[in-house]
Amino acid sequence: MRELKIEKNMPIGFMDSGLGGLSVLRAAVKVMPQEDFIYYGDSAHAPYGTKPQEEIKKLTFDVVEQLLEQGIKGLAVACNTATSAAVRALRMEYPNLPIVGIEPAIKPAVTCYEGGRILVMATPMTIKQPKYHKLLDKYSDKAEIVSVACPGLMEFVEQGNLDGDELDTYFEEHLNPYLTDDTETIVLGCTHYPFLKHHIMRFLGDKKIALIDGSLGTANELRRRLNEQNLLKDENGEGTVTIYNSTGRQEMIDLSYKLLQMPEMSMERRENKE
Ligand code: DGL
Repeated sequence: MRELKIEKNMPIGFMDSGLGGLSVLRAAVKVMPQEDFIYYGDSAHAPYGTKPQEEIKKLTFDVVEQLLEQGIKGLAVACNTATSAAVRALRMEYPNLPIVGIEPAIKPAVTCYEGGRILVMATPMTIKQPKYHKLLDKYSDKAEIVSVACPGLMEFVEQGNLDGDELDTYFEEHLNPYLTDDTETIVLGCTHYPFLKHHIMRFLGDKKIALIDGSLGTANELRRRLNEQNLLKDENGEGTVTIYNSTGRQEMIDLSYKLLQMPEMSMERRENKE
């Protein structure tokens, strides 16, 4: 257990197994534009989602230690997989650091439930974890929720391939078998997937299915937690974003900034309805 020195003028740390957490950072910059952010993408060890839990936990702690060396006043574990494998242990190890994790946005999907099917796309590891099963148990009597493991999907984002034909082949194999006429919502339960939203919507064609993710909810929760501890900066300044990637490759940094600047699609339910 470690007591950390935390100050208002420090940046906020973000981590992910790679570039996915940038979808959460994008939302955080929007809700806290005055803040400085440090993002660490562990692309050298990606994917996390097909690794054993202990390995994911160790990798997550290693990344968090690197962020702590720079000095951070709060931490977003912007990865569903790392959250389910490590967030409890992180909170125990750093009790005075505000830490938020992310989990598949099943709650918002159930809140506006209309009686059809809810699909949850996530990494195999997220779907295996007890934390996810607890979440499912909470809502399974209120809605039909079906989990869709998506091994290999985050790699498309890591390679900057957001729109290729191979993606259609992937969705044909991995998503299509679960799509029913009454499917009403797809929860994007991995932070990489929001960057594929345009392509998924195109793949779905005129099916009236909403795509939702937890990035804005997580960003708002982070702001709430920092505010609670009086750690937010005054709102008049403009903050900075610094991005690190464990591959050390400049092209990964360039791709990261490109993803961060990609316009966010509205997260409203039934957004692809006329
Ligand atoms: N971005 C991560 C998540 O939200 C997963 C990608 C991976 O498999 O590393 O689950």
